[in-house]
Amino acid sequence: MWGGRFADGPAAIMQQINASIDFDRRLYAQDIRGSQAHCRMLAAQGILSPADADAIVAGLDAVRAEIEAGTFPFSVAFEDIHMNVENRLSELIGEPAGRLHTARSRNDQVATDFRLWVRDAIDGMGQALTGLQAALIARAEEHAATVMPGFTHLQAAQPVTFGHHLLAYVEMIGRDRGRLADARRRLNECPLGSAALAGTSFPIDRAHTAAALGFERPMANSLDGVSDRDFALEFMSAAAICAVHLSRLAEELVVWTSAQFRFVRLSDAFTTGSSIMPQKRNPDAAELVRAKTGRVIGDLAALLIVMKGLPLAYSKDMQDDKEPVFEVADTMELSIAAMTGMIGDMTVNTQVMAAAAGAGFTTATDIADWCVRELKTPFRQAHHVAGRLVKLAEDQGCGLEDLSLAEMQTIEPRLTESARAVLSVASSVASRTSFGGTAPSRVKDAVAAARRRWLEGAQP
Ligand code: ARG
Repeated sequence: MWGGRFADGPAAIMQQINASIDFDRRLYAQDIRGSQAHCRMLAAQGILSPADADAIVAGLDAVRAEIEAGTFPFSVAFEDIHMNVENRLSELIGEPAGRLHTARSRNDQVATDFRLWVRDAIDGMGQALTGLQAALIARAEEHAATVMPGFTHLQAAQPVTFGHHLLAYVEMIGRDRGRLADARRRLNECPLGSAALAGTSFPIDRAHTAAALGFERPMANSLDGVSDRDFALEFMSAAAICAVHLSRLAEELVVWTSAQFRFVRLSDAFTTGSSIMPQKRNPDAAELVRAKTGRVIGDLAALLIVMKGLPLAYSKDMQDDKEPVFEVADTMELSIAAMTGMIGDMTVNTQVMAAAAGAGFTTATDIADWCVRELKTPFRQAHHVAGRLVKLAEDQGCGLEDLSLAEMQTIEPRLTESARAVLSVASSVASRTSFGGTAPSRVKDAVAAARRRWLEGAQP
């Protein structure tokens, strides 16, 4: 492609480090789409004859068909997807192929292809996350009144409903979707026509190609157009945060399915056995979702480091932008699918959860709140009363609700039967009706609101 100046071909090792065709062939559809849009624009501007443009567009269709049929002769000698496609085009249609590269460069070509690819990846990930939200919302509805211990410091804190716990993840994933949507909005400007770095002397119409490729507008600065990869970094940042969310849910599944917890059981479809210990049912898929977060964060770090300190405009360093992005997209697709499968498929052990919900004096706050409400005790003092009740129950080796009224009155004589009533797990969760709280009645409303907002796209 640059034989005019070069007498020798590249060293083998040069070809190996320089060629990107083994991975950037994934951009073929975007590359062909971009070339066809460029070609039609050149014809509309009178830069290319209608006959040449028709030949090029049809030839590119034939190239695409070969790639999709698996018959395309990919070659490292042609370095990357752009030159592989163009070379094959010239084999297929001859001379007009050589006119396609008028008024563009591989620099704006790859920037355009990659934006189109990342835009699709964003859309795909957004859809997959909506599916995961749907699975979580369905289980939350089913378990709006299922009680479990809520934890802080992984110590039993206050009873919550399982539906409420699942809806917490629906919100996190909703923000992940929001970050992807924000990234998409900023990404959606077209670099094509930036040419090598400075723009071009041909009378091109950048708004034409931008519109043809579904972009909002052409990018305003040609140097910026060929040299930034912030759109890829934003995609990976949003993915990394999302992967962290998934890793927390994955970790909870690992804990919940353990013999010590037994809150949840995963089916044969999402577990493995042990070749030596017959009783084992290992939550491998959850563990791997937890693990893969590391790759996603690593890929983000890799591209941040590639970009750091690069002078304007294009540098070949930027060819290394693709593999991390591909890996992030693939990893997220797999992790989200596995998580959606596990959530839909898990069996919830409501009895074990209910028993655990009351263990560890989890309704101690309720008795303190009762003192504040009924006796007008200042909260700090009420906390002290509840603490002494916990100590009493602990000394007697029983739960708070097992203490008799007489025993309780040794600590606070004004306690009544109505104080004892707040000690049950059911009354504890039912009382937490504040907006965003865990009461079953609230969770039912929250399920409906989540469905409207996250699945039907209503404004919050
Ligand atoms: N394969 C290259 C990349 O992905 C295409 C751009 C090459 N541009 C250049 N000036 N050598 O970055």
